[in-house]
Amino acid sequence: MADNIILIGFMAVGKGRTARALARATGRFAVDTDDLIESMVKMKVRKIFARHGEEHFRALEQRTADWLEQHVSATIVSTGGGFFMVNNLHRLGRVIYLHSSLEGILAAVRRHPNAAKKIAKRPLLRDMDRARHLYDRRLPLYRGACDTEVDVEGRTIDEVAAEIRDLIS
Ligand code: S3P
Repeated sequence: MADNIILIGFMAVGKGRTARALARATGRFAVDTDDLIESMVKMKVRKIFARHGEEHFRALEQRTADWLEQHVSATIVSTGGGFFMVNNLHRLGRVIYLHSSLEGILAAVRRHPNAAKKIAKRPLLRDMDRARHLYDRRLPLYRGACDTEVDVEGRTIDEVAAEIRDLIS
């Protein structure tokens, strides 16, 4: 098993920011699966969904997971909200689920100066009824898929990163 730290959780919960803070705190590199996919196909996630559909995007996530398994170790990996469904998740490293209520996530997004952009780039977050449905369906799946759950609601990114650093050291 590759000894990476894999951050999973719902859209906009702060996986990327936590990964970068954790990288700073541990001296490891951080990579993000959406960024890897965008650079692989030279297309934004939003456009991949619009042009090729979700199923194609999920196949790109699996290719990314296969590549990570073969080539990446000792790295902090932040993931897209559905990446945890890849078939080799646990061979990539220790899986940490960042948990917040949906209300907590949405309140944080709305407070953000770039709120509109944060929502626009996430095709599955644009329709709130759909987002609620997806959150309810995903919550038990995240809990079932992770090795460790970390509550992030109402906490700063640095606090969360410090807790994960202590967990993995
Ligand atoms: C998705 C989450 C997104 C991105 C894509 C699909 C999902 O990533 O991978 O829009 O299925 O939850 P973030 O979790 O970074 O928003």
